[in-house]
Amino acid sequence: MTTLTVNGSTHQINNLDPATPLLWVLRDHLGLVGAKFGCGIGQCGACTVHLNDAPMRSCLLPLSAAADQKITTIEGLASPDGKLHPLQQAWIEHDVPQCGYCQAGQLMSAAALLKQKKKPTDADIEDAMSGNICRCGTYLRIRAAIHSAAGNSSKIAAVVGCWTPSGVNESCDSTTLASEA
Ligand code: FES
Ligand code: FES
Repeated sequence: MTTLTVNGSTHQINNLDPATPLLWVLRDHLGLVGAKFGCGIGQCGACTVHLNDAPMRSCLLPLSAAADQKITTIEGLASPDGKLHPLQQAWIEHDVPQCGYCQAGQLMSAAALLKQKKKPTDADIEDAMSGNICRCGTYLRIRAAIHSAAGNSSKIAAVVGCWTPSGVNESCDSTTLASEA
């Protein structure tokens, strides 16, 4: 038997191979389907959860390594009273998701970043989020939303202002645009 603590609740997991990936346990045994299966090999970030507040690819983490640790999933990101995490609120305000498949993982990586750095720079964001792939290319809005949640209003303007109805704002630097390619 394995004891898992997920989003503050304790679960006893019986009769499962200790090598079972945590993602399988969350989705198939606990009904927490926010974390998604993308690649299954630690390359896309869709399955990201927190293990003791650090971002972790749950497709690679065996059940045995998650036992008796503090696990947080996207379902536990909001406060127990239902108040959204500032990042979730910013995601809504900036219309970040497109298909949505990657977004739980994106949010969990961003939340871990803000726990470590209250006012991340563009470089901090690129570093923390580089392992989270979005097929829909929502990177620009993700960056704006992270700055928004962090209260970096000047940075939001700089990011959002790169794209205008008539095309790319020529004042945007190549680094910003390259990261959107
Ligand atoms: S499904 Fe885990 S990193 Fe892609
Ligand atoms: S919103 Fe579609 S994969 Fe990211």
